[in-house]
Amino acid sequence: MPTTAPVEAPRSGPAPEAAIDAEVLELGRRLARRRPSVRNLSRVANDRMMALVARDPQLRAALFRLVDVAPACADADELAAHLDAFLSDVEHHSPPVALAARASTARGARHATGRIGFAAVRQMAGRFIVGETPASAAPALRRLWERGSAISVDLLGEATVTHDEGRAYADRCDETLVTLAAAAQQWPARPLLERDSAGVLPRVNLSVKVTALTPLIRAEAPERGRADAADHLRRLLRRARDVGAHLHIDMESMDSRDLILELVLELLSEPEFKAGPSAGIVLQAYLRDSEETLDGILDWAGAADRAVPLAIRLVKGAYWDHETIEALQNGWVPPVYTEKVESDRCYERITRRLIDVHPLVRPAIASHNLRSVAHAVVYARRAGLATHDLELQVLRGLGDDLQDALAAEGLRGRTYCPVGDMVAGMAYLVRRLLENTSNDSFLASRTGGAALDPLLIRP
Ligand code: FAD
Ligand code: 2OP
Repeated sequence: MPTTAPVEAPRSGPAPEAAIDAEVLELGRRLARRRPSVRNLSRVANDRMMALVARDPQLRAALFRLVDVAPACADADELAAHLDAFLSDVEHHSPPVALAARASTARGARHATGRIGFAAVRQMAGRFIVGETPASAAPALRRLWERGSAISVDLLGEATVTHDEGRAYADRCDETLVTLAAAAQQWPARPLLERDSAGVLPRVNLSVKVTALTPLIRAEAPERGRADAADHLRRLLRRARDVGAHLHIDMESMDSRDLILELVLELLSEPEFKAGPSAGIVLQAYLRDSEETLDGILDWAGAADRAVPLAIRLVKGAYWDHETIEALQNGWVPPVYTEKVESDRCYERITRRLIDVHPLVRPAIASHNLRSVAHAVVYARRAGLATHDLELQVLRGLGDDLQDALAAEGLRGRTYCPVGDMVAGMAYLVRRLLENTSNDSFLASRTGGAALDPLLIRP
């Protein structure tokens, strides 16, 4: 049985926190060593480009403008003209940027530069997106499963503007559940990924964004979208239950946080969903009130009397820039922590609480930060959780090496797999670029050449 008691200090030897830190260091180093020795060349080039961009705020701004306009450009010449304009704002050109700037203005080279710009944006998007449709993504999902990673499919799309778009998104989610349920029946057995101590873990797992289901969830009047979103979500919950799939509701910006949380917990309390499906929500540790939010979720979980425990995906939060800028513009105190270390500390506090209350909820630790991940694994082991009771999640394109390392370590992992086209994926791509060209990011620090051990120290 898991224990909720704090880990006792042994009579001799290091104090518990120091012992945890030592184990975290050891596991973090081991996971890092398991990175593949042969690396995908375009991935290496992409990492270098992000590291370059992370060092130069003007170049960072140019990249975001390029990503923003690329899907709307009529042809390569138009994109090259934009590239020229964006790069003209960058004062100190490093050699590759100087070359691109010269090429985007030279007459003969302009077309080629535009094509390279398109290819670069497409290649960045391709890094994160598994396929354009669930059917075309199915072979890649199967390969992940065979390599030891469960999956969660995310149909790209968010902040929909018409009812028809919302309905079309719900239809696509519905079809995806059916398509993947059929495909997943052919996957080979992977006992570690299919069961924890609470029971079956569905092979098919779909992540859904509520703002893609209805145009009415707006910051100024979030309640208006509630009934609309509820109808679509009810339909998806029924489908997930009928095909034996898991439905996970992503968390978005603060504008919609309370509405999404209340809505999902209310729907899961309805009598028709007491026996299933398996479902989950997301908690964002960068929010100053995330620990109080967790109190409310745990109260609900204690009283809900559902057959399947709620899964809680713990993340730091993907909307940090949005929340910070919006608060600044309105003269508000930002709802997010403003020092990275505060988010990291909160993440570890919540990790411990999720593990301490097991099996009330199913904890899913979603991070690419080796300190955050190793801390969860070490703390769970010390708390007596079985290996299959802790899920570790990564994003496709960013956490692939980590996912392989976790599988090699015998841990239970899941890869979040966006599916859709480049245009639908632009907002997602921008969030990934913001994270990975930020100086505070664990991954950016590593690709920028930072030493590992200082990054594994307790925040
Ligand atoms: P780290 O480099 O350790 O942390 C980066 C994060 O720290 C930033 O994203 C931000 O949250 C925080 N941060 C950065 N700078 C500061 C600062 N100055 N002050 C305070 N905090 C700061 N996010 C969502 O919002 N909703 C989701 O539904 C969601 N689903 C996800 C699913 C999976 C499987 C994964 C792996 C991530 C998901 N994310 C989601 C993204 C997640 O919130 C993080 O943005 C991302 O994982 C980077 O965090 P990290 O722990 O990997 O890396
Ligand atoms: C996002 O869309 C992964 O849900 C997270 O940024």
